[in-house]
Amino acid sequence: MPLCPGTPTPAHSTVTETHVITTTGLTKVYRSRGREVTALDGVDLHVREGEVYGVIGQSGAGKSSLIRCVNLLERPTSGTVTVAGQDLTALAGRGPRAGKELRQARSRIGMVFQHFNLLSSRTVQDNVELPLEILGKSGKERSRKALELLDLVGLADKAGAYPAQLSGGQKQRVGIARALAGDPKVLLSDEATSALDPETTRSILALLRDLNRQLGLTVLLITHEMDVVKSVCDSAALMENGRIVESGTVSELLATPGSELAAALFPLDGEASGEDRTVVDVTFQGESATQPVISQLARTYNIDISILGAAIDTVGGLQVGRMRIELPGRYEDNVVPIGFLREQGLQIDVLGHESVLVKEGAK
Ligand SMILES: Nc1ncnc2c1ncn2[C@@H]1O[C@H](COP(=O)(O)OP(=O)(O)OP(=O)(O)O)[C@@H](O)[C@H]1O
Ligand SMILES: [Mg+2]
Repeated sequence: MPLCPGTPTPAHSTVTETHVITTTGLTKVYRSRGREVTALDGVDLHVREGEVYGVIGQSGAGKSSLIRCVNLLERPTSGTVTVAGQDLTALAGRGPRAGKELRQARSRIGMVFQHFNLLSSRTVQDNVELPLEILGKSGKERSRKALELLDLVGLADKAGAYPAQLSGGQKQRVGIARALAGDPKVLLSDEATSALDPETTRSILALLRDLNRQLGLTVLLITHEMDVVKSVCDSAALMENGRIVESGTVSELLATPGSELAAALFPLDGEASGEDRTVVDVTFQGESATQPVISQLARTYNIDISILGAAIDTVGGLQVGRMRIELPGRYEDNVVPIGFLREQGLQIDVLGHESVLVKEGAK
């Protein structure tokens, strides 16, 4: 029984799918005090409808610039941004008269911030009503919608409270309710959990996942924590120096030889192959039947196999993982057992055999 598709899929989305967020050649150059900083350097992002998409990268990589350009809080230097079929960059380029259209388009994009950005002088309910005021909704309609959203995020009893009376997690729930006020198709979140403790982080991530499932909401989430990607994301992109250097669904990334993101999601220790050993990473997804396969391999070829490490996790509801094993002897001595593993539908990377890895990966 194959455990995962034999051939690795390239870790890139194709344009034939329904993408709710697309950027092409997105570039942002900040100019301040005579200096230029290129924060985004030609970013092509494709976020599918209904998915949770994580963008990860070190500080200064350009993550916030990307999310701020996606909702036009920041004007891109060049490139295009399309959200829910609407070219926002074209709207923004049409001058002040397009302002109303742009505002309406933006109301279809919810935004959640790291530091919540709540107005301290307003009650929880009034904070949630704010976007509805901007959209010109009646008082009755605003109140109904705000209470419904507060109920959705589990804060029905806090409508009359002020932000200062809430915990960090509760404040972020208000931030999420406010972001949902305009019935957005897309929710953007910039480090929404970075100011929260691990347990509160988990509950906020679970809420985002629920909203994603219940409302079919597409979530683009910026984070610098691998655990966040692991627990909620269907797809992920790695940013470095203003560029996306890897992207794909988490399973695609896992099945991609040499993927930095996959290695960061599933870290394994162990040395590279050498004269007396061949170290192999086995990637699998779906029903975890790797262990019996390894035992069968040992029996069939009468070899001692050491398991150096294993990382198994549930990503987006699917079990995925990597196991690092060591076979005695050089790679050349192990071509047949490695072929056996591949025949089981497992993705195989031989560590320290770069030319082999490239050749195998290209199969
Ligand atoms: N308003 C601005 N003016 C000038 N430079 C800016 C501005 N905003 C961001 N930058 C620069 O652009 C680059 C990318 O910044 P950005 O905030 O997008 O990174 P980030 O990945 O979100 O980092 P962090 O994880 O620290 O939030 C950095 O070099 C930053 O100094
Ligand atoms: Mg940032």
